[in-house]
Amino acid sequence: MTENEEPQVSEGGEQVVSESQIAVHWREEEYYYPPESFVAQANANDPAIFDRFSVDRFPECFTEYADLLDWDKRWDRVLDTGDAPFWRWFTGGRLNASYNCVDRHVPVHGNKAALIWVPEPEDVDPVVITYRELFHRVNEFAALLSDFCGLKAGDRVTLHMPMVPELPVTMLACARLGVVHSQVFGGFSGNACGTRIADSGSRVLITMDGYYRSGTLADHKVKADDAVAEAKNQGQEVDQVLVWRRHPGQYASQAPMLAGRDFFVDEVAGKYRGQLVDPVSMPAEAPLFLMYTSGTTGRPKGAQHSTGGYLAYVAGTSKYYQDIHPEDTYWCMADIGWITGHSYIVYGPLALGTTSVIYEGTPNYPDAGRPWRIAERLGVNIFHTSPTAIRMLRKVGPGEPGKYGYHFKHMTTVGEPIEPEVWRWYHKHVGKGEAVIVDTWWQTETGGFLGSSLPALKPMKPGSCGPAVLGIFPVILDEDGAEVPDGKAGNICITNPWPGIMQTVWGQPERFISVYYAKYNKNPESMDWRDWPYFAGDGAVRAPDGYYRILGRVDDVINVAGHRLGTKEIESAALTVPEVAEAAAVPVIDDIRGRVVEVYVSLKPGYQASDAQAAKVTGAIETEIGKIARPKYVWIVPDMPKTRSGKIMRRVIAAVSNFADIGDVTTLANPEVVDGIRHQVQTAKLAKGDTPRELTGTEKAEIQAFGAES
Ligand code: WTA
Repeated sequence: MTENEEPQVSEGGEQVVSESQIAVHWREEEYYYPPESFVAQANANDPAIFDRFSVDRFPECFTEYADLLDWDKRWDRVLDTGDAPFWRWFTGGRLNASYNCVDRHVPVHGNKAALIWVPEPEDVDPVVITYRELFHRVNEFAALLSDFCGLKAGDRVTLHMPMVPELPVTMLACARLGVVHSQVFGGFSGNACGTRIADSGSRVLITMDGYYRSGTLADHKVKADDAVAEAKNQGQEVDQVLVWRRHPGQYASQAPMLAGRDFFVDEVAGKYRGQLVDPVSMPAEAPLFLMYTSGTTGRPKGAQHSTGGYLAYVAGTSKYYQDIHPEDTYWCMADIGWITGHSYIVYGPLALGTTSVIYEGTPNYPDAGRPWRIAERLGVNIFHTSPTAIRMLRKVGPGEPGKYGYHFKHMTTVGEPIEPEVWRWYHKHVGKGEAVIVDTWWQTETGGFLGSSLPALKPMKPGSCGPAVLGIFPVILDEDGAEVPDGKAGNICITNPWPGIMQTVWGQPERFISVYYAKYNKNPESMDWRDWPYFAGDGAVRAPDGYYRILGRVDDVINVAGHRLGTKEIESAALTVPEVAEAAAVPVIDDIRGRVVEVYVSLKPGYQASDAQAAKVTGAIETEIGKIARPKYVWIVPDMPKTRSGKIMRRVIAAVSNFADIGDVTTLANPEVVDGIRHQVQTAKLAKGDTPRELTGTEKAEIQAFGAES
């Protein structure tokens, strides 16, 4: 059966459970159907849409997405494969992303809310920014960037901003000028930001003095000083640091302002009040932004996204999969510092002229009812979050949603596999049985969704992300490139390019090919897209109904709370501690955050293990990457288990930390160390009350395979 046919299994019908499903201990779940009221109003409720996006209509099918935008000049070609695998979409076309997200809505929806910002302190009212107001703020800030900073099309600018409306204003002001923004997640450390400044060649850093997080006004400007110093270390001078102030006129940071380099935006902006800047007409293929993500080596990769293809793709998927209409109030609780926020808080929703909600703080501040109070007060009807947030809100306040009078028509889950049990709580309690759910599988590199159910036309199946989305044709391959049958796990690949795919890895085109395409390309000279399957780096299983279950990363990336952390990055950070000889980071199954990280280190001769030494390792990881990468435990062991060629066997220590079967250790050069490590680590974990639970088959397989390639 193909992806485009309706599943043959009826509601409550018989389920055939295949061998491999038993093997992975995650039974096929039943279907849930969308309420009729949802179907009636949905943007995509006519099955003819599947024909419009069938494989024989590729790539022209994607003009349906491009037609959602206003173009200064229409494209000459939909897809140019002449420089495969560097795909060029909508070549010859010209447009401006800020015009599409702001200006064009002003005549019709000028006084409608574009953004509603909810500050974390609950005694402060939400801030409404209309499309007309957004237009002025974007223009004024674009004028400042152009005049005060001398920025022009093609320049890169690094942003290190929290969840405040000034962030989309800054992004859209850059886009207005054709300046390429590179927003670094606010929770990353100054050093991590500095590395990204250097890699992107930014000479301007835009940040904020502080922001509210779990009840405190955190000092954020302090990170800018580290960032500039680290960038300089890596050969990149930063000339200007623009500092937005969380409370204009007051300074929330202890860090000094460096005269001639650091400027408060609210002091400089006065001069630009009321100014308008024409949107710069950009080629469809001009880069719109960079988004750094972790990979298999230490150095982060700057995923470069295009103006025309990317914007078309996020507008199209927002319309059909998020079911966004201009009159909806849409709230995605992700951070704009990640790809989800770029595509599905800022660019997609604003391209469609809807109201997008931005919340500054943590979901459970001051208590687990907060998200539901926000939803009730603002009349949110589309809600979007991650399994980690759902698991956490379920744990701390399972009955909370029922206390509030909001009504969602649509909900999304993104970023990690969601357990069917958690999915059902989301459906029943958060969605009150009234909302459809889309589980969306995709990546920083892919710009928008790859796998999800079209909510009015395909039933939901808990634990599966759904079939491939419109115009995406996946295949599951084994290590040799042979297609695996339904029900068997393999590497999920996308056989065709699509408009949202990254254009390249910024400054490292060879990595774009080696990481995503080399594995399954048989002819590097080929200009036929059929020869270039995109290797996503995820394991997956396809069920006979065409629904995909994503099993997780097949490389050494660990998904913590929906955030990708490269083990190599964590290990390099640990190795900055002078006493550390060797370091290995491993994933540990966690019932709230999906995975957490534990780090094993061995010390150079002459140094003793101590709590202080372990704390130093944690500190180094926080400094180099940020608190999100903070390991749950650091274990100082006398020696690492190693192969005869001297490689650390990460799967062995991963098994120890997960209380899993250690497996065969006969290939180790030093099998005698394993028992000692196991005793040390497991005794300590049990003493801390960290009791293991029985792992599922999928989890066991993941732990056994971990680090296989390193
Ligand atoms: C994982 C986030 C299961 C996957 C948008 C992918 C998922 C990585 C899902 C990308 C999902 C994302 N179900 N796993 N619905 N969505 N993933 O780049 O391993 O931060 O490769 O993009 O998250 O993470 P990234």
